[in-house]
Amino acid sequence: MPGSDALVAAARAARQHARAEYSGFRVGAALECADGTVVTGCNIENATYGLTVCAERVALLKALSDGRSDFVRIAVVADTDAPTPPCGPCRQLLWEYTGNIEVVLANLTRESGRYQLATLFPLPFDRSLLGAPVPRP
Ligand code: THU
Repeated sequence: MPGSDALVAAARAARQHARAEYSGFRVGAALECADGTVVTGCNIENATYGLTVCAERVALLKALSDGRSDFVRIAVVADTDAPTPPCGPCRQLLWEYTGNIEVVLANLTRESGRYQLATLFPLPFDRSLLGAPVPRP
């Protein structure tokens, strides 16, 4: 299992691939699976703006499409003094597919915050409200 320094380093490296031509705001993410595998992502923007996909969602969708379903942590890196936390839609999707994982926030030189996802996403709308809970795969 990689230490959080290694996870943050992976997110920093992924950030280098960001396609952030419109905002200039480059973000990297690294999602740690229960078996120690790390799946990375970066933000991908587009001329329509609205089709932008955040780094966290790129990492999550890559991991899910590889058949991964058990996650423990995600690191998110941006070049900001204040922590850059996942946006609302990313919190919703992370909650759905990763549960209450640890979220490690960092910039280019230091870690800036550490939270459980449940703290960042209180009172979620999720499958438990749709009826009988569906077990995770
Ligand atoms: N962005 C992310 O990739 N993750 C975040 O946690 C915050 C925002 C991206 C989306 C967009 O490409 C750029 O940052 C500015 O919002």
